[in-house]
Amino acid sequence: MSMHLRSDVDLNAAQVKRVIELALNVKAHPEQYRKALDGKSVAVIFAKQSTRTRVSFEVGIFELGGHALVLTSGGSSGMQMGRGETIHDTAKTLGRMVDAIVIRTYAQSDVDELALHGGVPVVNALTDDYHPCQALADVQAIQERFGRTQGLKLVYAGAGNNVAHSLMLIGPRVGMDVVVACPASVAPNAAILARAQADAKEAGTSVTVSHDLADAVKGAHVIYTDTWVSMGQDADAQRLREELQAFQVNAKIMAAAQPDAVFMHCLPAHRGEEVTADVIDGPQSIVFDEAENRLHAQKALLMLLMGAQPW
Ligand code: CP
Repeated sequence: MSMHLRSDVDLNAAQVKRVIELALNVKAHPEQYRKALDGKSVAVIFAKQSTRTRVSFEVGIFELGGHALVLTSGGSSGMQMGRGETIHDTAKTLGRMVDAIVIRTYAQSDVDELALHGGVPVVNALTDDYHPCQALADVQAIQERFGRTQGLKLVYAGAGNNVAHSLMLIGPRVGMDVVVACPASVAPNAAILARAQADAKEAGTSVTVSHDLADAVKGAHVIYTDTWVSMGQDADAQRLREELQAFQVNAKIMAAAQPDAVFMHCLPAHRGEEVTADVIDGPQSIVFDEAENRLHAQKALLMLLMGAQPW
């Protein structure tokens, strides 16, 4: 049976540790893995725009000696999914031709169904609910900066979206406390919050929600934010900008955190909205380490899921 990364809960603490350990070695010694996916093909499907995810998967699979088929799910040169072919039939077809499937899409159920019927490892490259590849790259960046993740406090400022959900779930798996600071109107999904809090209780960490960013960032090692208007939310853009104004990360917010705190953002960023330019372009920002680590963390993940490296 194939192992997948449908969401962060597919990896336990030991498995996250293994991905990060391998990702750090991949980054230090990429030459050791040049033939890891020799003769293997990976379908990388996009139903939404992407810069980092697309480039990191395509380059990463190439650097592992594999072949990436980068596909769009719709449009005149897209897959038949765009004309209504079912996920079931797409999964059954791709599973007979490729060795793994990576997909960025809207509905989490698309990822779950591909995994159910494809017969090959499936990786969630962002859905409306989760962004687990981003969270792995973020953990790698935090590990690099602090030399540990255990005992750190991460504060996510903004809407309780897919990135927030993945950070909430990965926090307990790496020993970090996570606070989501958001307006009540855009709180994280209640079921995902409950799962993250149950995992945190078992791990001896915490996952909480605050509506006061200035208070939440006290003692924080990581201040994280994301775009206020996620893909597919254009109709709500004005309302979101107004409601999230009080959750902007600026110099005053950074000054209230630990003196060695870092600023993180999954990108793309909107300077002057969720973060001020002096913070994202300043010395505490590690946003491009996060972006680069997408490459290394996903190479590690694919090798493990595809059996090219032991867990
Ligand atoms: N962070 C992230 O997923 O970037 P892209 O949308 O550019 O892939």
